[in-house]
Amino acid sequence: MRLRVRSVPRLSGRIEVPGDKSISHRSALLGALAEGTTDIRGYLEAEDCLRTIAAVEALGAEVTRKGPGEYRVAGVGRRGFSEPVDVIDCGNSGTTARLLLGVLAGQPFWTFLTGDESLRRRPMKRVAEPLVRMGATVVGRGDGSRLPLGVHGLAQLKALAYESPVASAQVKSAVLLAGLHADAPVSVTEPAASRDHSEVMLRQFGARIERRGLTTTLTPGPLSAAQVMVPGDISSAAFPLIAAAIVKDARVTVAGVGLNPTRTGVLDVLSTMGVEMEIARHGGETSEGPRGTAAGEPRGDVTVSSSALRASDIGGALIPRLIDEVPVLAVAAALAEGRTEIKDAAELRVKESDRLAALARELGRMGVRVSERPDGLVIDGPARLRGASVTSGGDHRIAMALAVAGLVAEGETIIDDTECIATSFPQFADLLNALAGQCCVQVDE
Ligand code: S3P
Repeated sequence: MRLRVRSVPRLSGRIEVPGDKSISHRSALLGALAEGTTDIRGYLEAEDCLRTIAAVEALGAEVTRKGPGEYRVAGVGRRGFSEPVDVIDCGNSGTTARLLLGVLAGQPFWTFLTGDESLRRRPMKRVAEPLVRMGATVVGRGDGSRLPLGVHGLAQLKALAYESPVASAQVKSAVLLAGLHADAPVSVTEPAASRDHSEVMLRQFGARIERRGLTTTLTPGPLSAAQVMVPGDISSAAFPLIAAAIVKDARVTVAGVGLNPTRTGVLDVLSTMGVEMEIARHGGETSEGPRGTAAGEPRGDVTVSSSALRASDIGGALIPRLIDEVPVLAVAAALAEGRTEIKDAAELRVKESDRLAALARELGRMGVRVSERPDGLVIDGPARLRGASVTSGGDHRIAMALAVAGLVAEGETIIDDTECIATSFPQFADLLNALAGQCCVQVDE
């Protein structure tokens, strides 16, 4: 499927984006692991998160769809899963595969996981290694480093104090989820703070979890069901918000978006770049834990208006706080006055595609002066973007970033291979069209 995008003079309106992908995955997994019934509202009904629902169903949890984005998960308890009768296909979803490996490390049976072509290329050893140290068995391609993988867990794992070499919420979460089954507290120390949705939600579900500096410690124990309200995904909101910053006459509000500080790096960078932004935080908490305890996934309405952008370097501890937003931030950088250096972002090479290579190649085709570094990009702006034939390489966030670039490019931009948008943001083109008129249309071959 191809998307044809044309430039627009104006972008305006108030929208909501679908539920947060990271929080949705976690709500299905914790709901299944908990004792009792978990009700979820705002669940992201996109391919990746539906894979996680299918996975917990394959393990024996019952999930009922009550309405759009509303699910009821009948928890089986952390020892209640049963051996799946078939291979679990995680599709394109790294979060499904990696968090599930953590859950399965505590299950005393074999489960086999696979994924699509992109996911089968992505590194799994980073998760398998600590789980094996805790007592799980992981076998598969590349000595257990690539899907398909088979995992056999233990009902009681050895505790671990893990020093993670990467700032990865997926690695941290897998070890913490396995830790629910350990014989003593488990800790993970990361080199920089990654998103803490697992910690927030585990606490909501009654787990004892503490954070000191960059170390998170979980005390093993059962989980009890909770009510989860998933906020809008800031990673999806970043596309219309950056579109508003770069289109000449624009003002866009994304309502009800998650504002967890471990995810808001994109807003910090946009403000340093001179973007006009208003944030109206919603009062109170949005999710409830057992016994009505509040849990903190803050949310709010974010409004961005057309702005004169200036370059701002991106690196260090900021990277994990905006890792998924780099593709669309690169588009903002291309339109900013001055040189932007993106550093310390080698992780982008092992996402759904090699995003550094893809951005350098495809934005280059659109007239951006961009060069690739081993761990980042150097972008000289402002560019005069020209419409071109570009490709997502099967990566949803590259596809959407190129569409945002197309909104300010001279002539038409044709983006190839855009089915992948459905993995995280199926409404993307419709929402852009609602803000700008018919700017983004699907062209079938
Ligand atoms: C995610 C963590 C990030 C992010 C991914 C979702 C999560 O990956 O890129 O889209 O839900 O934990 P890493 O933790 O591997 O950096």
